[in-house]
Amino acid sequence: MGVSFPLASVSLLSHLRFIPIPITASASASASASASSWLLLCLRNGSWRRKHAAAVTKWDHRHHYSSFASHSLLKQRLSHSVAVRIRYDNGGSGGEEEAVLMSTVLGIETSCDDTAAAIVCSDGRILSEVVSSQTDLLSRYGGVAPKMAEEAHLQVIDQVVQQALENANLKETDLSAVAVTIGPGLSLCLRVGVQKARRFAGKFRLPIIGVHHMEAHALVARLVHKELEFPFLALLISGGHNLLILARDLGDYVQLGTTIDDAIGEAFDKTARWLGLDMRRGGGPALEELAREGDPHSIKFSVPMKQHKDCNFSYAGLKTQVRMAIESRNINTEKNVISSIDCEDRKARADIAASFQRVAVLHLEERCERAIEWALGIEPSITSLVISGGVASNQYVRLRLDDVVERNDLQLVCPPPRLCTDNGVMVAWTGIEHFRLGRFDPPPPEDEQEDTVFDLRPRWPLGEEYAEGRSKARSLKRARVHPSLTSIIQASVKLHR
Ligand code: KG4
Ligand code: ZN
Repeated sequence: MGVSFPLASVSLLSHLRFIPIPITASASASASASASSWLLLCLRNGSWRRKHAAAVTKWDHRHHYSSFASHSLLKQRLSHSVAVRIRYDNGGSGGEEEAVLMSTVLGIETSCDDTAAAIVCSDGRILSEVVSSQTDLLSRYGGVAPKMAEEAHLQVIDQVVQQALENANLKETDLSAVAVTIGPGLSLCLRVGVQKARRFAGKFRLPIIGVHHMEAHALVARLVHKELEFPFLALLISGGHNLLILARDLGDYVQLGTTIDDAIGEAFDKTARWLGLDMRRGGGPALEELAREGDPHSIKFSVPMKQHKDCNFSYAGLKTQVRMAIESRNINTEKNVISSIDCEDRKARADIAASFQRVAVLHLEERCERAIEWALGIEPSITSLVISGGVASNQYVRLRLDDVVERNDLQLVCPPPRLCTDNGVMVAWTGIEHFRLGRFDPPPPEDEQEDTVFDLRPRWPLGEEYAEGRSKARSLKRARVHPSLTSIIQASVKLHR
């Protein structure tokens, strides 16, 4: 790639953190024989580049640069580098040290109905997080209407980003990069975030990282649980997606299962609506609350896809079963909102909510059991199941999946609810994970045209389907599906090898 960048993120230099690595024979052999020779290597765009040793004049062995021939020269050399490696030969005792540069990344998320921004540091500190939700639009229209959602994002995006900077007490120039969701999602909505991110990055000469929304849901678990290492299994459950993913490495995912029709969040939202619940806080949370009052065994809904021995999901049939249960009980939710009904009616609705939730989650449990078996077959070293996405904030889901992992000697890793639903933190953190490996694009031009066609990926798989997991029940439309994130990264790794 070999892009040369103008200077940005100079404040990184004050945050050098050194990770000493052992002196190897090859390292000392490659250092020059002279007593004060240095070789500075910078990690940029995934490859180590040699820099002139003259920039560093002294190394005090307390893991600090104590002086530089020219501080600004070094800054220039390090700009847009994510790590430095120094090889030296100090009077014969050669060595090599590696430093990771601390980065501070702004994350922007607008793929669906939340406008979110956050600033996160590469050491895992969340400096700010701001979310503006379109819940009143949702409750008025019963779903996300793309044009209206776009309008709502446009109205608040500047303010949300500004607030994130103010809350973090940072200036634009303190940032190292901007990360933004480029897919999957609604293209009109994605466009608002991407345009904002590119204008911002262009103006302040910051590199930009395009983020996969579902990867972000999964990786935020590594921000919360620092000890979570690859490979791990992830169940990602939201309004638009139901995914079982084996995360083998950063950017290397195998899709064990997906939904053949609706996602679980969509089923929660529809059921909540049909039951006349107050949708202002979102259908899922309202349904979870009402379900606590009901008998989960009162209605015998059947568990989807029992006959398919794979890890795919289906919620359309369960939605129909719920609809029929509501109609057969003469619950008229058009006129009767839940706040104005009598005790008996409320109990009938709570029973439906609880029975729906039990079976919807049972479907998750069954698929997770099989996915654990498959994942252990592919990667025997996995120890964790991550659950994330909006529906993972449901306490009943957590409780039931905790049982599943315990039976299989794994641990459940579940981010706090505010990081399970759409947020900017997960985008910033995923940006950091890729940025650290040098995966980013150069700052966009400052004067980018209004009508620029952005790289948006509304239908973008995370990884390739696991061959044995292909559902016979599926006939997914493959048109306009972008190549998967994993295949893109694998191709670029090969290119740079
Ligand atoms: O991840 P998310 O915020 O947005 C998407 O990427 O879709 O997920 C939103 C979904 C909605 O369907 C919402 O009703 C559901 O997550 N959700 C819940 C709960 N909280 C949010 N579903 C069940 N129980 C909850 N407590
Ligand atoms: Zn989401």
